[in-house]
Amino acid sequence: MKRRRSLTHVGGLIESTGQHHDADLLAQALAVAPATDADNDPARSHVHGFHTYPARLHPLTAARLVKAFGEEGPILDPFCGSGTVLVEALIAGVPSIGTDLNPLAIRLAACKTRVRTATELEQLIAWASVCAIQADERRYAKAGASRRFSPADVALFEPHVLLELDSLRLGLAACEPPVRSDLELVLSAILVKLSRKAGDTTRRTRPRRLPGGFATRLFVEKTRELAARFTVLNRLLPPRRAPVTVLLDDATKLERLPPTPVAAIITSPPYVATYDYLAHHELRLRWLGLDPALLARGEIGSRTAYARLTPAAARQRWQKELERFFQAAGPVMKTDAPLVLVMADSAVGTVALRADELIAEVGRSSGFRLCARASQARPHFHGPTMAAFRNRPRYEHAIVLRKATPISPSH
Ligand SMILES: C[S@@+](CC[C@H](N)C(=O)[O-])C[C@H]1O[C@@H](n2cnc3c(N)ncnc32)[C@H](O)[C@@H]1O
Repeated sequence: MKRRRSLTHVGGLIESTGQHHDADLLAQALAVAPATDADNDPARSHVHGFHTYPARLHPLTAARLVKAFGEEGPILDPFCGSGTVLVEALIAGVPSIGTDLNPLAIRLAACKTRVRTATELEQLIAWASVCAIQADERRYAKAGASRRFSPADVALFEPHVLLELDSLRLGLAACEPPVRSDLELVLSAILVKLSRKAGDTTRRTRPRRLPGGFATRLFVEKTRELAARFTVLNRLLPPRRAPVTVLLDDATKLERLPPTPVAAIITSPPYVATYDYLAHHELRLRWLGLDPALLARGEIGSRTAYARLTPAAARQRWQKELERFFQAAGPVMKTDAPLVLVMADSAVGTVALRADELIAEVGRSSGFRLCARASQARPHFHGPTMAAFRNRPRYEHAIVLRKATPISPSH
């Protein structure tokens, strides 16, 4: 049974179907003011806005889903990306586990969910300043490069920016591990802005003319910003800290989880044929020395992998990839635990891949029952695939399934 209702008039009409209680909770989770992926978007408050990440979940949607479906804990987000669900679980005081195949995601999610004291935050800023002073000294002394730059870096950065980044990296290498790891993410957060890359998810470049010392100043500013974001987060945390575990693991295998079954899965899998996490993060992975081999082998839904497929073959491949995820998810969940997915429709050529239809199909055949769905129309601006949404708009869906109880042989 379908119901159309406008919840709070934010973000447009929400259509929901299925069990009323679940459907209402899903609709409320989707009823948020639209957010951009920009870090300074007010929706990306405290640590959510520290580092950009393609297709981040809206923090308010994540918070509402955690409260509605995950309060018992532990929650698993098997495609945790930058850790939005994990941060909201931390704020709600619910234990959580996040996995992803992208090593940058793992570093980010772990950084954002590791609570720090005010003293640790002061030390972080102090270390960033030390790195900056050393970088400035090397710049004044015209110290030159500490190593040979790759042709990709030479093409992407102005020579003086590359030298400053090189000096900052030398400084980071001398810091102790927890500080080093944070400062490497600070470096990662400013890399694209300092480069000729026009954005995270594009190969286009743009002219860039930055003054000497800019990269170093931005590095210190961004560290201060990170510390300030943590200070705000700290005020939101309950007195008893819920544990957060972050693991590099393939969501279609889930081989590294602790043995206790989870009480809920809340996640947003990749938007099929839309993003390429490996390609989008190639620059950052290289500068942080993170090994992309597992992501290269196991990323599901990537635009590159789907680029040459016919719409029928793309649908089939996406079904298979989702099926592998459902089959890995079932055994790690408690009986009747909710599996909550936030997914948008995508398109291959002029054919739409409807996330709600695919999930219903694949979920059922993988031992889950579909309980409810809420959907909200989202604009689609991409020229070549626009025709796919001529008849029915592109929707973002929040869907809840539950593991079907096995039928005992006596029945
Ligand atoms: C839509 S993003 C998740 C964003 C996240 N909810 C956030 O707010 O940052 C999808 C994630 O799936 C990850 N991914 C792709 N294939 C994967 C796989 N086989 N196993 C685990 N993660 C995978 C990508 O690296 C990406 O981080």
